[in-house]
Amino acid sequence: MTSEQSKRPLARLVPGGARAARSKLRRRLSAAVRLVAALTLVGGLYSAYAPGVGRAEEQPALSESAARGKAIYEQSCITCHGRNAQGVQDRGPSLIGVGSAAVEFQVNTGRMPLARQEAQAERKQPQFTEQEAADLGAYIQELGGGPQLPDARSLDEDVKKATADSKTLAHGGELYRVNCSSCHAFSTGGGALSSGKFAPTLQHSTNRDIYAAMLTGPQNMPVFGNNQLSPDDKAAIIAYIQDVNKNEAATPGGWGIGRYGPVTEGLVIFLVGIAALVFATLWIAGKS
Ligand code: HEC
Ligand code: HEC
Repeated sequence: MTSEQSKRPLARLVPGGARAARSKLRRRLSAAVRLVAALTLVGGLYSAYAPGVGRAEEQPALSESAARGKAIYEQSCITCHGRNAQGVQDRGPSLIGVGSAAVEFQVNTGRMPLARQEAQAERKQPQFTEQEAADLGAYIQELGGGPQLPDARSLDEDVKKATADSKTLAHGGELYRVNCSSCHAFSTGGGALSSGKFAPTLQHSTNRDIYAAMLTGPQNMPVFGNNQLSPDDKAAIIAYIQDVNKNEAATPGGWGIGRYGPVTEGLVIFLVGIAALVFATLWIAGKS
């Protein structure tokens, strides 16, 4: 027999014992009520002052742009990058932490959505508008964070300023030769890397593409974070690249012939010249 059970018969025997038992019960009940009230109060205060905690299990609410991006993502990206962008084995890498910068770069240069696995995703006609790319970017950004691009207009302003100042432009050229020319060539024309990979030409890149490429380091390209190349350095490099592109587009010395360099140009002149000579000889021979 435990002491609890032994008390009850005692309460019935002793006069006034029933009342004592009842008041004890009342005390216990009121203690329980006070405890529940205190817990409710503490819980209420806690959830009021720490609003995130109570909803820890729900998905965080997406912004309007990100919600639109999510819809596109579920149509075009989910098969390779997974339900929560965590990646799919042998299909596509995780996009957690790549940031909206990487997404906008990949989508605006037409690299993504990838059609099939290849050594390197190539620049293609983009499948989505810039707004859709920004929406996709917002979704990935809100899901996993990461680097973001500066506002397009302010970047264009910075690049314009750098272009106008010959000293900044020269500084950009120096930074380009040190950091980029080993892969993209002095002329921004690009070049081959090992195992079927290549550094593409920069002649079709917008200011934002170039900024994003530096910030996110697509595939075999190293990342040039803002500690390595400050936003001002990046603007100077972009100004230099666009300046070279402009001069290249002007093609001094006649046709560019695919910009394969002086050897091809010489070869073309040689072949065309020989053909012309042969025709001339035949024509003269036919005349006499
Ligand atoms: C057929 C599969 C496939 C589809 C569909 C696809 N991707 Fe990819 N994605 C890949 C692969 C593979 C890579 C890595 C390629 C590389 O590094 O060249 C990649 C890389 C990326 C990267 C770069 C990640 C990094 O670390 O910088 C981003 C961003 C990205 N994809 C976004 C998207 C978005 C957004 C979509 C939908 C519009 C999409 N992808 C659709 C396969 C795919
Ligand atoms: C180690 C070689 C390497 C270096 C150094 C390098 N890149 Fe790249 N870059 C690449 C490769 C490889 C790609 C293609 C990535 C892909 O297709 O996913 C690329 C892509 C790019 C693109 C995208 C072009 C397009 O087709 O859309 C830009 C812009 C770019 N690089 C700019 C730069 C700048 C600016 C620097 C210097 C600050 C630089 N890169 C340094 C290898 C390099």
